[in-house]
Amino acid sequence: MPKALITGITGQDGSYLAEALLQKGYDVVGMVRRSSTVNYERIAHIQGSIEFVNGDLLDQVSLIDAIKIHEPDEIYNLAAQSFVQTSFGQPVLTGETTALSVTRMLDAIRIVNPQIRFYQASSSEMFGKVAEVPQTESTPFYPRSPYGVAKVYGHWITVNYRESYNLHASSGILFNHESPRRGLEFVTRKISYGAASIKLGLEEKLSLGNLDAKRDWGFAGDYVEAMWKMLQQEEPDDYVICSGMTHSVREFCDLAFSHLELNYEDHVVVDEQFFRPAEVDLLVGDYGKAKNVLSWEPSTSFKDLVTMMVEADLALLEGRLKGLA
Ligand code: NAP
Ligand code: GDD
Repeated sequence: MPKALITGITGQDGSYLAEALLQKGYDVVGMVRRSSTVNYERIAHIQGSIEFVNGDLLDQVSLIDAIKIHEPDEIYNLAAQSFVQTSFGQPVLTGETTALSVTRMLDAIRIVNPQIRFYQASSSEMFGKVAEVPQTESTPFYPRSPYGVAKVYGHWITVNYRESYNLHASSGILFNHESPRRGLEFVTRKISYGAASIKLGLEEKLSLGNLDAKRDWGFAGDYVEAMWKMLQQEEPDDYVICSGMTHSVREFCDLAFSHLELNYEDHVVVDEQFFRPAEVDLLVGDYGKAKNVLSWEPSTSFKDLVTMMVEADLALLEGRLKGLA
């Protein structure tokens, strides 16, 4: 059985990737960092099938030990400080975690076993103030946040270790992908959870920032399949993974509230605190290379994604209310 080590297994993508790899017959090892309370909510249903190893991206020795002890064939580096807004308030932590830690992991692989295949979670946030539309693997980067800058570093150090040490190291340049397991601070989940709360009479208003920003949103469950496909190729490479469609935050609100027979204009209020010092106005990718080389295509439409998230939050909140009754 192949063995995969996943960093960030407690996050959105880690949970979907772990599910997918278990289904393919992998032994899955999840790296988790120490916290004062256990936060396995997203992987509770598969917890018994996963082996856990303690480690932190900020601690080089823990990465080396994790690889020595568990001897993975593949490593998926999904862990990061992943919230763009936080990166403006904690730029140094974001740089340490999201940028330099990629080097820590690559060095751990180089030292312990350079045959291990490596996946780096790169991001469309690297395109920032976009140089062309749509964005492809050859579009120049122009990041607009400390997070985006950190991801550019992570991306290029992955390319550099591939070229310098012949590592099988690939980057997936993933555009925004969402799900009912998305963190509550990201705009899609904030909207689906907020709309469901308003529908159930738990809230009246939802405060948001820039409603005109446009993103290329897909479903996380579709995107983790592309990560795996990248590591099955004979040669490592970089791939854009996206839906190829773009929608505004306003459109997301409209669909989510309409699904619950509400008008978003009656409930959404714009609050300056959610605006960013520098914004990424428009993202839309071209997944042509992934389609040709990996035979990968997204399978969830924007409308289905919004509906899935709203329905899940409605069920979640209804369940909580029943529990209280
Ligand atoms: P997420 O839900 O925020 O999960 C982040 C994970 O990283 C969590 O498991 C977190 O652990 C872990 N982590 C943070 N700091 C760590 C540290 N110092 N040591 C070890 N683990 C640490 O993120 P996601 O949405 O699943 O995204 C996965 C990756 O893809 C990230 O690198 C993100 O930047 C990148 N990405 C995401 C998207 C997207 O749209 N989702 C698009 C492009 C790229 P705790 O649970 O302990 O906090
Ligand atoms: N979070 C948030 N909260 N965003 C808001 C809000 C709000 O109240 N109101 C408007 N927005 C806008 C943001 O300004 C941004 O333009 C857009 O909604 C999306 O914000 P997020 O959902 O926070 O995602 P992101 O695009 O900044 O970053 C995500 O996607 C990247 C890939 O492009 C994260 O998952 C990153 O980790 C990922 O790399």
